[in-house]
Amino acid sequence: MKTIIVTGGAGFIGSNFIFYLMDHHPEDRVVCIDKLTYAGNLSTLAHVLEKDNFRFCKTDICDREAVYRIFDEEKPDIVVNFAAESHVDRSIENPSVFLETNIIGTSVLMDACRKYGIGRYHQVSTDEVYGDLPLDRPDLFFTEETPIHTSSPYSSSKASADLLVLAYHRTYGLPVSISRCSNNYGPYHFPEKLIPLMIINALNDRPLPVYGEGKNVRDWLYVEDHCKAIDLVMRNGRVGEVYNIGGHNEMQNIEIVRLICKRLNKPESLITYVTDRKGHDLRYAIDPTKIHNELGWLPETKFADGIEKTIDWYLKNEAWWQPIISREYQTYYERMYGNR
Ligand code: NAD
Ligand code: DAU
Repeated sequence: MKTIIVTGGAGFIGSNFIFYLMDHHPEDRVVCIDKLTYAGNLSTLAHVLEKDNFRFCKTDICDREAVYRIFDEEKPDIVVNFAAESHVDRSIENPSVFLETNIIGTSVLMDACRKYGIGRYHQVSTDEVYGDLPLDRPDLFFTEETPIHTSSPYSSSKASADLLVLAYHRTYGLPVSISRCSNNYGPYHFPEKLIPLMIINALNDRPLPVYGEGKNVRDWLYVEDHCKAIDLVMRNGRVGEVYNIGGHNEMQNIEIVRLICKRLNKPESLITYVTDRKGHDLRYAIDPTKIHNELGWLPETKFADGIEKTIDWYLKNEAWWQPIISREYQTYYERMYGNR
C-alpha cells in the first residue's frame, strides 16, 4: 500500500489519473492537492470524494507552509505533479502566473520531498518543451535527446521546471522521473482547449475558430493511455530519466474540426479562420520507443474510438460543462475570440 500525492487532480489529466489509480490500485491512498483555479473543478471528483482512501486538500502548491503540513501528515511514498497553468493562449496573455505555479510550485513540492523523504517525485511534462518540427519533414520526431527549444511562456515554464527537477536529482539525489506527453483528449477536458471547444461550439451552432490555416499538426493521445504510462513510469521507470509518451497519431487541426462537424451533423460553414496564435508551434510528433522498450507501454485506444467516446461523453455530460462555460469562461472567450 502506497500513499500517493497527486497535485492538480481536479483538472483534466489529474482527475483521469486519480480515477485510474482508484481502479487499478485500490489498495493505495490518494491525496489530491489542488488550488481549484478556473481550470480545477471539484465536481469532477464527486464520486471519489467520499472514499476512505482519498483526501482532497484545496491548497496552492506555491504555499510552502501548507504543502509541508500535508507532507508531514501524509508521509507520501510518491508525488506526481500535474498542477500547472496549462493553456498556451493564456500564457501569451499573462505569463507571470505560469512562472509562479509551473516553476516555483514545482520547486516547493521538491523541497517538501527532500524534507520529508520520498520514494519517487514524478513530473508531468509536455512535448512542447522540444519546440516544434517542420510540417514538411514527416520523418522527424521528438526523442528524449531532442534539445529543449521552447516557443511560448507556457512551454518555457514547463521546460524550466524540467531542468529544476533534473537539477534536484543531480544535486540532492532526489529520486525523480519526468514524462513528456503529446496532446491529450478525453472526458473532463476544459472547454478552452481545441477538441472540447469545437465540440461545445458545434453543439451550440457557434463559429468554430480555427487558428491560421488549420494546418498545424498535433499528436493526439487518449487520456487514459497517458495515465497508464505515468503510472508505469512513476512505479517502474528509471530514476533520473525522461520518458516521451505519444501514440503516433498526428492530425492537422482542420481535420479534427471537420471530423467533429461530421460526427455532430453540423455544417462545415461553422468553421471560421481566425488570426493565428503568436509563435504558433507547427508540428509535434513524439517518438515513444524508450517507454515501449523499457516499460512495455503502448497506446491502447485508437483515435477513431477515443474521439467517439469523447464526443459521446460531452453529449451526455452537459451538466459538467454548462456551468463552466457560463462563468469566467464567458469573459475569457470574449477577450480571446471577440476581435480575432
Ligand atoms: P488543467 O489546466 O486541466 O488542470 C490543471 C490543474 O492544476 C487544475 O485542477 C488547477 O486547479 C490545478 N492548479 C493550477 N495551479 C495550481 C496551483 N498553484 N496549486 C495547485 N493546483 C493548481 O491541465 P491538464 O491539461 O490536466 O494538464 C495537467 C498537466 O499535464 C500539466 O502539468 C500540463 O503541463 C501537462 N500536460 C498536459 C497535456 C494536455 O494535452 N492537456 C499534455 C502533456 C502534458
Ligand atoms: O502538446 C501538449 C500540450 O497540448 C500541453 O502541454 C498543453 O497543456 C495543452 O494545452 C496542449 O497544447 P496545444 O496548444 O497544442 O493545445 P490547444 O488545445 O490549445 O490547441 C491545439 C491546436 O489547435 C493548436 O495548434 C492551436 C489550435 N487551436 C486551438 C484553439 C483553442 C485552434 O485552431 N483554435 C482554437 O480555438
